[in-house]
Amino acid sequence: MSLATVSRMEAKLLLPTYERQPILFVRGRGVYLWDSKGKRYLDFLSGIGVNALGHNHPAIQAAIKRQAGRLIHISNLFFHEYQAELARLLTEISGLDRAFFCNSGTEAWEGALKLARAFAQMNHPPGAASGVPSNAKTQILAMDNSFHGRTFGALATTGQLKYRAPFTPLVPGVTFVKFNDLDDLQRKFDANVCAVCIETIQGEGGVCPVSAEFLGLASRLTRQSGALLVLDEIQCGLGRTGRHFGYQHYGVLPDIVTIAKPLAGGLPLGAILTTERVATCMHPGLHGTTFGGGPLACAAAIAFLREEKKLLKHVGAMGEYFQAALAALDQKHKSILDVRGVGLMQALELDSADLAKAVASQLLKEGIIINRTHETVLRFLPPYIIQKKHIDQLIEALDAALRKHEEISQTKTKPATTRREKEAHAHA
Ligand SMILES: Cc1ncc(COP(=O)(O)O)c(C=O)c1O
Repeated sequence: MSLATVSRMEAKLLLPTYERQPILFVRGRGVYLWDSKGKRYLDFLSGIGVNALGHNHPAIQAAIKRQAGRLIHISNLFFHEYQAELARLLTEISGLDRAFFCNSGTEAWEGALKLARAFAQMNHPPGAASGVPSNAKTQILAMDNSFHGRTFGALATTGQLKYRAPFTPLVPGVTFVKFNDLDDLQRKFDANVCAVCIETIQGEGGVCPVSAEFLGLASRLTRQSGALLVLDEIQCGLGRTGRHFGYQHYGVLPDIVTIAKPLAGGLPLGAILTTERVATCMHPGLHGTTFGGGPLACAAAIAFLREEKKLLKHVGAMGEYFQAALAALDQKHKSILDVRGVGLMQALELDSADLAKAVASQLLKEGIIINRTHETVLRFLPPYIIQKKHIDQLIEALDAALRKHEEISQTKTKPATTRREKEAHAHA
């Protein structure tokens, strides 16, 4: 089917939830994708952080092919060969003790919130007999500017109004804290808090890492009061930062961590990882899923984890090279306000949404896929197998696109004042 036919049919038949680029992709290999007209694209987005080994990695392909010929689904009413082994691998690299498998990031996050409430309720059962009020230790602290997914619990803890507003009322009991603001966290934390929820690196919110001080304070406060530190590593976990988990850069161990995106090499699979202590609040029937942790996805995930650990050093080295190249670009362009990121999760914040949009579309025309998030931020989530020559190609294209669109906007309007200039002015 042609792009025109597909897009006409979708416009008529699908819920209009996505604003797709007019490209029909038909195949991929390594860091490249090809569209229906045979045009090749360099992929600096990896299907939003999913295709971490690149497209059609032979190990993932082999695991899927082998398992598809044996058993695809069995439900969680029976055993299959892979959940236990996958849980063993994940607990080994995370420092946590137990796993629950589901189908997506938002479902993992939803389960993590349920786990936090169930754990608090086990330790502080509400009701007249126990003398504990029904709202005791039910409060969740979540972060401004965060993103945890599209289901109701995930939206209730997502600190961006545009995602939440159309669906109110959401799950109650959530208070938002200013991200990386120690005083605000200290002020809002009390004995009724059952969980502090943090994305170790906010992804959708513009690639903003949590500060060591803030994560340290969240860890201390939760430990002292019996609340849980819940980290969302759906985007930044599983090797993207050059370590297995983002929190491993900080020397902090969470009580619960959620993962998804790259876990099964492109098949849908999410997981909640937690401690033995927290796991005691669960019993059969309290949580579950029909599809989650099926043999096909778990077999692919085992193959993914074997490759991921071989690539960590490479991701770290490419991350450093990439960030240095972005920093050099920053020196050349007034319109760049900030360079942020860890490992292969990097971003450029520009001084206008129009410029970010123009640069992203210019690159797409030239055959390079990047993503714009939080209006003004160009986000880069390349596959872990990316090499210096690919980074060089991107940087060159960014340099040219920024130059072109800065020139256009300067002829139209006065040059924009950058944040750096504003800051310099404020400090003068
Ligand atoms: C940090 C984070 N949490 C949760 C989600 C939701 O994951 P999913 O789209 O698989 O439901 C995302 C997706 O982008 C994410 O980046």
